[in-house]
Amino acid sequence: MPIASNDRQYSSDDDPRRTGAAGAGSAAAAQATGSAEQAADGAARVAERVQAVPGSGIRRFFDIIASMDHVISLGVGEPDFVTPWPISEAGIRAIEQGHTHYTSNLGLLELREAIARDLERRYGVEWDPREEMLITTGVSEGLDLAARAIINPGDEVIVADPSYAAHAPAVLLAGGVPVPITTRASQGFALNPKEVEAAITPRTRALLIAYPSNPTGAVLERATLEALADVARRHDLLVISDEIYDRLVYGGFEHTPIAALPGMKERTITLGGFSKSHAMTGWRVAWAAAPTDLMAGMLKIHQYAMMSAPTVAQYAALEAVRAGEEYVISMREEYDRRRQLMWRGFNKLGLSCAEPRGAFYAFPSVAQTGYDDETFAEQLLLREQVAVVPGSAFGTAGAGHVRACYATSYDEIEEALERIGRFLHYAPLAK
Ligand SMILES: Cc1ncc(COP(=O)(O)O)c(C=O)c1O
Repeated sequence: MPIASNDRQYSSDDDPRRTGAAGAGSAAAAQATGSAEQAADGAARVAERVQAVPGSGIRRFFDIIASMDHVISLGVGEPDFVTPWPISEAGIRAIEQGHTHYTSNLGLLELREAIARDLERRYGVEWDPREEMLITTGVSEGLDLAARAIINPGDEVIVADPSYAAHAPAVLLAGGVPVPITTRASQGFALNPKEVEAAITPRTRALLIAYPSNPTGAVLERATLEALADVARRHDLLVISDEIYDRLVYGGFEHTPIAALPGMKERTITLGGFSKSHAMTGWRVAWAAAPTDLMAGMLKIHQYAMMSAPTVAQYAALEAVRAGEEYVISMREEYDRRRQLMWRGFNKLGLSCAEPRGAFYAFPSVAQTGYDDETFAEQLLLREQVAVVPGSAFGTAGAGHVRACYATSYDEIEEALERIGRFLHYAPLAK
């Protein structure tokens, strides 16, 4: 099946220039990364909880990229494919038919019903499309709604470190305190349930998980997921589960939503979407599923802050659920080919890389090169025009790694590996 690629510029929703680095921080940390003038303004005019979100430590790096030509970007976190044509056509048809008004706050009932049926078929979890499902403006909005709906000031939310750059900020912006739990390459970057349990305090409100993982490509084994669910049940925690990459798992692995486990649906907000699975990042449409009381809280915020998700995008998403499966499968097959090339390629070059089993990222270690991750990324960019993202942009435990996205063409990945190989010849290899 023909799947088209896009010419891309260096920008993405998960571009840390926009979202800020993950991890708890302080106003001082935010100010340290901006200019003195910005900091002064920030102190005077920007709300304290916004100041408390750390700025990106790698702004300088992205400024360099913006000024360069011929960069092979393994930096962005979005599909290089354009939206499959029948899905786009459904959007066009919606415009032609005058579907240019608001929908219900919850989103088109037809779309909620279609998603609920699809989730029941794939995962055996039944959500009531009338009361437990909401169409959101991307999982980005879903994250914000989930955090704001459940967090009281000072509540702690456990997050993996490293994790998607917007997770900890969503907690901070909702008035909560992200509690990062280190994950390690040696354990496939999976959250360790025992370490999660040890971090629980009387203030712990929720656990925020996101598997398959951005930036590590990790997935959770069933036994680990069950152990995490057990911790959540015993300590009466809520769970926010960002499952935007659920369709992108490889090598026979099967994704299980944590809400599918016994006693978990009633304490879990599940977030899913179309951005990655159907190459629809620009449409800004996704869904949230949650028990009715939590959904009522989320809906209250959504109806005042957003009103409804983009209507045309909702019609396109409806087509994606009804007829998008063959595209999901063919894009996944292509990502898998690229995944094998990239992951094996890094290991051949001596950059040790755990097998990424989901999403579209590899997260190799660069520690053995003698560079820290930021210097590695910067030098690689300057000398060989290959862009990767320093792992520390995703939390302190990401240090010593870089994130490379394989949602770019096979040829470009081959070329990038060649350039990285050349670069390693003159890197100050580990002393
Ligand atoms: C883990 C994760 N969650 C959420 C998002 C944002 O998704 P959306 O485009 O649906 O807002 C991203 C985008 O990179 C992501 O990696």
